[in-house]
Amino acid sequence: MSTFRLVVVTGNTHRPSKSQALAAAIVEAAQLGPAVSTEIYDIVDAGPGLGGSLRRDDLPWEAARIVDAIEHADGLVVAVPIYKASYPGLFKHLFDFVDPSALERKPVALAATGGGFRHALAVEHQLRPLFGFFSAHSLPTGVFVSDANYRDGKIVDEDVIKRIGALAGELTDAIERRGAVSTVSTLTPSA
Ligand SMILES: Cc1cc2nc3c(=O)[nH]c(=O)nc-3n(C[C@H](O)[C@H](O)[C@H](O)COP(=O)(O)O)c2cc1C
Repeated sequence: MSTFRLVVVTGNTHRPSKSQALAAAIVEAAQLGPAVSTEIYDIVDAGPGLGGSLRRDDLPWEAARIVDAIEHADGLVVAVPIYKASYPGLFKHLFDFVDPSALERKPVALAATGGGFRHALAVEHQLRPLFGFFSAHSLPTGVFVSDANYRDGKIVDEDVIKRIGALAGELTDAIERRGAVSTVSTLTPSA
């Protein structure tokens, strides 16, 4: 049985993180079987060299392997904290290195967390256009979670949990429809 490569990218710059908890809740709700391999990366994994890299060749290995994983994914789960009404600048900087055609028609689950509800539409107005640029298959349900919806790092709001379930169902359907198509990475670790 071939494997569907699901890559989870979260925009947090610290741990523990609500965005990571949100991404984990989406993956858990999707109840993915053994035919799906899941990798999880965040901005912390990209390392401090990400922000100082102006060209792809400048990227340190830690960041380059995430760009490579995104490009060779069969589907993505994306969860970001809202910073100043949008996704964090470093998250955008990471995706600026991604080949424009790498995500074409690939399923992408979109989610965000914010301090309150003031920017609840950032998933629709910020994240969705970014993945529209890539011609990705952004799944219809976007999930926004406010800090008040978490207790002890877990999402406790019933309506939000239902919405996560809807998005997870769409992700599962998309994975089943698409099957395994991952391409082989040619990236090798630098010395
Ligand atoms: C620099 C910074 C800017 C922020 N700007 C916003 C904002 O514009 N709107 C909002 O709702 N929350 C804002 N927040 C709050 C975070 O989005 C929120 O606490 C989020 O759940 C944190 O997720 P994390 O634990 O994954 O980083 C901001 C937080 C930081 C650190």
